[in-house]
Amino acid sequence: MLHENLAEIPVIKKIDETRQGEVFQAIESETPVSGKHFYIESYGCAMNFSDSEVVAAILQTEGFSATKSIEEAALIFINTCSIREKAEQTVRQRLTTFRKAKEANPGLLIGVLGCMAERLKTKFLEEEKLVDIVVGPDAYRSLPAVIAEAKGGQKSVNVLLSREETYADLSPVRLDSNGVSAFVSIMRGCNNMCTFCVVPFTRGRERSRNAHSILKECRELFEKGYREVILLGQNVDSYYWQPENQDENPVTFASLLEQVAGIAPLLRVRFSTSHPKDITDEVLWTMAAHHNICKNIHFPVQSGSTRVLERMNRTYTREWYMHRVQRIREILPDCGLSTDVITGFCGETEEEHADTLSLMKEMCFDYAYMYFYSERPGTLAARRYTDDVPEDVKKRRLQEVIEIQNQSSRSVYAGDVGKVWEVLIEGESKRSADDWHGRNTQNKMVVFAKGNFGLKKGEYAQVLIEKATQGTLIGRIVDQ
Ligand code: SAM
Ligand code: SF4
Ligand code: F3S
Repeated sequence: MLHENLAEIPVIKKIDETRQGEVFQAIESETPVSGKHFYIESYGCAMNFSDSEVVAAILQTEGFSATKSIEEAALIFINTCSIREKAEQTVRQRLTTFRKAKEANPGLLIGVLGCMAERLKTKFLEEEKLVDIVVGPDAYRSLPAVIAEAKGGQKSVNVLLSREETYADLSPVRLDSNGVSAFVSIMRGCNNMCTFCVVPFTRGRERSRNAHSILKECRELFEKGYREVILLGQNVDSYYWQPENQDENPVTFASLLEQVAGIAPLLRVRFSTSHPKDITDEVLWTMAAHHNICKNIHFPVQSGSTRVLERMNRTYTREWYMHRVQRIREILPDCGLSTDVITGFCGETEEEHADTLSLMKEMCFDYAYMYFYSERPGTLAARRYTDDVPEDVKKRRLQEVIEIQNQSSRSVYAGDVGKVWEVLIEGESKRSADDWHGRNTQNKMVVFAKGNFGLKKGEYAQVLIEKATQGTLIGRIVDQ
């Protein structure tokens, strides 16, 4: 997969297409349409998509329902990403399109949400005169008040970060959902200080959501027919929730996984993202013990060079990373493994880059999200180091990383031919109404003929893999 600028979490097709913070997804809710409409576009990582569903829940209480039509909307929101410069440029381009909508409908309010709102704060209003509302990721509860203020003709901003906010009590309104798979946010913010990364500044301190509310949300999803929950956090392994009632035990990520898996054997559980320094054997053993916890770990390495990892402040070495992968493969021999890589980080030499290439070859990841380094203002790297690798070198190195990954993906996918995988049906294949598409436990996309088996979306099929491309397995149903 080409990803000069992808964010995270390759979970469902919708997100594969939107991870870049470039390709947007206009979304529509399942709820009935009322007189007042909002239009929302989300960019960036799954966390942002999940947040848009929280925003939709808040707007719904104000009588708004989602629309896919800009012309129909009284409010336009763009939920933004700051992870790389390109992601921000895309947002600015979209805002010029919205300007035209505002010219045609002067009463229209335009709001910027998410990480770019947090990074730029009031500066946004100076730079983009047409924007009426700027609200950061921890301030969505204030949207009704902010909208009222903006309706009164005042530009309105709330970018306060919080140490507590997890939106635990809100029931997200599922937007543009396939009705099978849903994101469930389990924590917010990040306490790691990877020097390249803007997230700790845009999302604030890490906090874990009340485990009871997570379980309740997952149970409700299952009751509504969903068959997969994707637990989201920037560093899920550091999930830790201490109940107020001291008699209750604290909940770790391993125990949370176990409890969510216990809701129903037919409910698949996925999660993202794992941090190499924090993933525990306990989590791996919990995955091994439950058939419905998907055997797939997104495990961003960022670089194969210990010296670069040190400058990135990732707090692990190349050897540590490789050792953790070895442990994953010991405990979960059939586990899918994917990663994120950055090329051309500050001071990266050819030798250090060669270390990334050799690690990629050795690990043979299923897939990877690969980017060249983009300096973000205010980050530790921007303050400490010089962004001294020329852009053409960054891009050439990225291309080399992509080529190795393409070879790995081809060989991993080809290795599935002849295997039978259990596939959760997500919907009809885009190419043919005679075919289903879904994913196996390793998060690989599988396409297969519906045949006369009478299966439905949200059900499981046993599929014998007969062919493979670099990113898709093709097979037929067996043993139903
Ligand atoms: N929390 C996750 C982790 O620790 O791996 C990932 C978070 S970030 C939203 C997703 C990916 O974007 C990172 O893994 C990294 O590869 C990439 N990324 C972050 N900052 C970047 C930057 N300044 N330039 C290029 N890529 C970046
Ligand atoms: Fe960014 Fe590092 Fe936190 Fe991931 S763990 S969000 S890369 S600071
Ligand atoms: Fe996600 Fe982009 Fe923010 S990757 S956390 S939306 S900076």
